[in-house]
Formats: sequence, structure tokens, C-alpha cells
Amino acid sequence: MALPSPVPITLFGATSTSGQALIELARGRSLVVAGRRPALPPAGGGDPPPFLPCDLEDACGESRAPKGVLVSFAPIWTFAPWLARFAGDNPAGFAALQGVIACSSSSVITKRFAANRFDRDLVQRLGQAEDQLTLTCTSHARPLHILAPTLIYGQAGPLGDRNLSKLRQLLRRLPLLPLPGQGGLRQPIHCRQLAAVALHLADRLPLAGGDPSHQVHLPLGGDETLAYATMLRRLQDASAPGDAARRCRLLALPPRLFQSLAAPLLLLSPKNFEALLRMSADLAGFTPAHRILGGPPEPFPVLPLAR
Ligand SMILES: NC(=O)c1ccc[n+]([C@@H]2O[C@H](COP(=O)([O-])OP(=O)(O)OC[C@H]3O[C@@H](n4cnc5c(N)ncnc54)[C@H](OP(=O)(O)O)[C@@H]3O)[C@@H](O)[C@H]2O)c1
Repeated sequence: MALPSPVPITLFGATSTSGQALIELARGRSLVVAGRRPALPPAGGGDPPPFLPCDLEDACGESRAPKGVLVSFAPIWTFAPWLARFAGDNPAGFAALQGVIACSSSSVITKRFAANRFDRDLVQRLGQAEDQLTLTCTSHARPLHILAPTLIYGQAGPLGDRNLSKLRQLLRRLPLLPLPGQGGLRQPIHCRQLAAVALHLADRLPLAGGDPSHQVHLPLGGDETLAYATMLRRLQDASAPGDAARRCRLLALPPRLFQSLAAPLLLLSPKNFEALLRMSADLAGFTPAHRILGGPPEPFPVLPLAR
């Protein structure tokens, strides 16, 4: 099969780490940023991409309809209703799109049986938004990929994640971090890997043409699956010599003892209590990014890490 030529991209969620990483990867190709704020200038200089002001809570004007493939790293429950409105208000503009790639979350799978209301509501919002996107794209015969990534980490230009970086800050502050044994499995994905997968799939969407059966739901992770404790150890090892994160001792407690010690939290915050319980759960088994991209697997952690 001939290599597809780069398609024009309209990017929502450009101010997320994955959006910023996509801008860096898409340097030199046709890309417009749509959103509430323009993108930051790319690292290493150059102009930021052209900007299409568009709050997903509103409509974008018909005269400035997005073009090419729509890639979204915005919250899917905001993007899906906007896309349905856009398709209804401007069917010709929607039909001219080459396809849609939208980011959901693996939480739609992993939190399905959560006991607390916050996580159950999240699963419902994600599921409803995925259904709405699928309906919009199927009824207008536009190809769609829904990416459902697990834990996204890393730094892209000036932007850094707010999950593994928080764990690293905890490691810096505490002399000792108790864990439930080695913890469950994790498969974190670097924002650059997620952006690369989105670009790779965007370039192949036109091959699907208007095939309405081309609707893909892709749970996605990094290339390495590792126990929670190993993930923390690798973060310590990747920290600069002298970084306080290296000094924190990881204390593997018997999981039942860990859970008993965490039990009082159930009264204060069922959501945080369940998050602690989830440390023992295996949140892995997703398609590794390298299987889509075709290169060799990248061990965890992929650099750069957020500070
Ligand atoms: N973080 C994770 O570990 C994780 C895990 C699984 C899935 N995800 C999903 O992956 C994607 C990226 O996650 P993230 O945590 O990196 O994102 P984030 O930092 O929260 O950024 C969200 C992006 O969406 C844009 N946005 C939000 N509301 C908007 C609106 N009304 N109109 C236009 N743009 C809007 C924001 O733009 P502004 O600059 O205007 O705010 C920002 O660029 C999201 O779809 C998220 O649900 C994240």
C-alpha cells in the first residue's frame, strides 16, 4: 500500500501535553489549532500554528469550519456534543472532513464497576460521549477513531502532566512511601507516544474514505507493563542525581494491612479510598503504542518527564 500523504489537521486540546506534543511532531505540515486559547509557540522557536477560536461549549461560525482530520485531546464529553451540533448545523462542512480522532479514556473500561458515585458518573459521561460521537460519524459516513488511553505522562514543550509528576513530588516530600505489596500493573503512555499514534492514524483515515463501518475504539497504553512499585522505582532512577525523589524508601506492606490502614479514608473520601484500593488493581493490557506505530518498543519512562 502506498504511504499516505500528510492530511491537514484541525487540533482541539492543543494546550494539553498531548496536543503540544502533536504540534511538535506535526512541524512543517498543515495544522490549525482550534480552542479557547491559541497554542504555545513550539519548543526550539518558530511561530505557533494558526488559531481558530472555538469554545466547544459554543458553536464555531460556519465560515470558519474546521478542515481535514479533526483530532481532539479535549474532554470527550465536551467534544462529542459540539461535533453533533456542528454536523447538524453545517452538514456540508462536516461531510468535507476526512475523519475524526477523539480522545476518550481507558477509565471507561477500568472504572466500570467502581463503587463510588464520582467514578460511576465519569464512566457514564465517557460512554455517552463515545456513543454520541459514533452516532454522529456513522450517520454522516465519516470515519472515526476513539482513542482510550490509560495514564498519560510526560513533558511536551512547557507543559507537563499532573499525575506521575505529582507522584514524583510525593516521593520528594516523603522519606517513606507505603505500598500494597508491589501493587497492580500499569501501562503508562507518554504524551509524545499518544500524539504520534493520533497523527499516524490521522494520515490513514482518508484511506477509509467515507466507509461508515470504519469506527474504531482503541484502548491504548505505553510499550511496557510494569508493577506500580517498579513504575515508582523507575521514576526515582530517572530523576537527576541528588533529586530528593531518589531518597524515598518504598515500603511494600501486605496488601490487607495496607487496606486496613487506609480504611478510615472511606469515611472522609470514598473516591480517594477507592483510588488507594485501585493501586492493587491491574490497569493494563491495552494496545501498546509501538504496535500501531511499527517501531521498537520504548521502555518506561519515555523522556522527557514532567518536573
Ligand atoms: N491525563 C490523563 O492521564 C488522561 C488519561 C486518560 C485519558 N485522558 C484524556 O486525554 C485527553 C488529554 O488529557 P489531559 O489530561 O492531558 O488534558 P487537559 O490537560 O485537561 O487539557 C484539556 C484540553 O481540552 C481543552 N478544552 C477543554 N474544554 C474546552 C472547551 N470548552 N473548548 C475548547 N477546548 C477545551 C483545553 O483547552 P483550554 O486551554 O482552553 O483549557 C485543553 O487543551 C483528554 O481527552 C482526557 O480526557 C487523560
